[in-house]
Amino acid sequence: MQHEQPLTPREPPAAAGQPDAFVDWFRRCTPYVHAHRGRTFVIAFGGEALADASLPELVHDIALLHGLGIRLVLVHGARPQIEQRLAERGAEMRYVNGLRVTDNAALGCVKEAAGSARVEIEALLSMGLANSPMAGVRIPVASGNFVTARPLGVLEGIDYQHTGAVRRIDRQSLRRRLDDGAVALMPPIGYSPTGEVFNLSAADVARAAAIALNADKLIFLVEGTGLTDAEGAVVSNVLAAEVDNLLQREPKLPEDLTQALRAGAQACRGGIRRVHLISRETDGALLRELFTRDGAGTLISGEPYEELRTARSDDIPGIRELLRPLEQEGVLVPRPREHLETAIERFQVTERDGTIISCAALFCFPQERMGELACVAVHREYRDQGRGDRLLARMEAVARERGVDRIFVLTTQTAHWFREHGFERARIDDLPLAKQQLYNYQRNSQVYIKRLAG
Ligand SMILES: CC(C)(COP(=O)(O)OP(=O)(O)OC[C@H]1O[C@@H](n2cnc3c(N)ncnc32)[C@H](O)[C@@H]1OP(=O)(O)O)[C@@H](O)C(=O)NCCC(=O)NCCS
Repeated sequence: MQHEQPLTPREPPAAAGQPDAFVDWFRRCTPYVHAHRGRTFVIAFGGEALADASLPELVHDIALLHGLGIRLVLVHGARPQIEQRLAERGAEMRYVNGLRVTDNAALGCVKEAAGSARVEIEALLSMGLANSPMAGVRIPVASGNFVTARPLGVLEGIDYQHTGAVRRIDRQSLRRRLDDGAVALMPPIGYSPTGEVFNLSAADVARAAAIALNADKLIFLVEGTGLTDAEGAVVSNVLAAEVDNLLQREPKLPEDLTQALRAGAQACRGGIRRVHLISRETDGALLRELFTRDGAGTLISGEPYEELRTARSDDIPGIRELLRPLEQEGVLVPRPREHLETAIERFQVTERDGTIISCAALFCFPQERMGELACVAVHREYRDQGRGDRLLARMEAVARERGVDRIFVLTTQTAHWFREHGFERARIDDLPLAKQQLYNYQRNSQVYIKRLAG
C-alpha cells in the first residue's frame, strides 16, 4: 500500500571513508530520544498558530514527538479567531486592566472559535498522505471537559462575566487518554458545576494541566522572537523567582509573552522543572529545543542556571580553587597560575551562581590533528549528575570546530570514566611528538585516545 511508505531522507550517502553528516546528526539525537520517551509534555500555542500557513509544519513536528513516544497535551488559544468573529458582528473584545471581559456575544465567538480550531487540528493530525511527513500516521485526538472553571467575578467594580479562571483539571481522564496513546487537545474553555461555559487564558489552562499531570515539560510557543535582551539576542534562561521583577521592568512585552512568563513561573513553583518559551515563527524551533544541547528558546527554571561557556580571565581564581584539591591528591598535574593565564581561552567552564563548578581545557596539536584534554574536573558536590558527560561533549564539539580528529587524555585514576565515554587505551608513541617528549615516565599516566565522529 502506497500510503504506508515512509518518506526517506534526501541526503545522498557520504562518500566512502567520509563522515556522513546525516547519520552523525541522527546518532547525536539518540540520547534525547531516550530521554523524552514516555515523558509528558504540555505544549501551548496561541490562536495565531492556527491561522498561520505554517500550521501543517507545526503539526508534523507534534506528530513526530508523538511518534517518539512522548505523551502530548496541546493547549491552544483562540484570540485572533474570537476577535475576527466579533469584528464581523460589529463588536469587539473589551479589556480592563489587561483582562478580557467576555460578554454573551464574545462567549458565542469563543465557542465557535474553539470548535473550529479543534476540527482543524484533528484534521491535520488525521492526515496520512504518502508524500508528507504524516505518511502512514494517524494520531487519535482526545478532547473533552477536562477543565472545571470558575468565574473571575467582579474585580474593582468590573464584572468580567464569562471570563473565568481554572479551578481544577480532571487529571484522571486526561491521563487515561494519554495512556491510550491519544494526543490530548485542550481549548481555552472551562465548565462550571452549574453548567456554565467560561473563556480562559490558554496559558492558565496549560499551567494547570502541566501541574495536574506533573508534566516533565511545559512549552509555550510564543509569537515573535520570544524573550530577548537589549541586543536582541534570545535570553536563554530566567529564574522563576526573577519573572515578577522582569515583568515590572518590561511592562511593554507582548501579551502572550507576559502570560507565558507568568504562567511558566507559577508552573515552576507548582513543581514543573522545565518550562520553555520558544518562538513559534522559527521553523522547527520545537525540535531544536528538544533535540539539541543548546536549544533555541528561553528556559524558565526554579533552580539556579548553570552556564557552560568559554572561560575568561576573571574565572582563574575559581578554576584554581576547583583544581587545587585534585592537584594536592595527585589526580591532576599542578599547573602554575601563569600557565592558566596564558591558556585561559582554551578552557571551558560551568558557572553556577557565580561559582566555577566544572572545567576542562583543550590543547591542540594541529599537525597531527590531535587535541589534549586536560584539567577535566567537576566540583565534588556536583558529581554524578551528568555534568562530566556534558563537559566532555562540549570539549568534543570545541575540538571538532578546531579541526581536531582525535582527542587524548593522560590519566592515572580516571581511565574507566574515559573508557566509558569512548576512549581507547593507546601507547605513548601514539601521542603527538611534542607531547611524547614531555611525557613524565615517573607519573606513568595511561594514554587514552578517542576518535571524534563527524
Ligand atoms: C571524572 C569526573 C570529571 C566525572 O564528573 P561527573 O560530573 O561526576 O560525571 P558524570 O555525572 O557524567 O558521570 C558519573 C559516573 O562516572 C563514574 N565515575 C566518576 N569517576 C570515575 C572514575 N575515576 N572511574 C570510573 N568511573 C568514574 C561515577 O561513578 C558515575 O557513574 P554512574 O553513572 O554509574 O553512577 C569527576 O568525577 C571528577 O572531577 N573527578 C576528579 C578529576 C578527574 O579525575 N579528572 C580527570 C583527570 S584525567
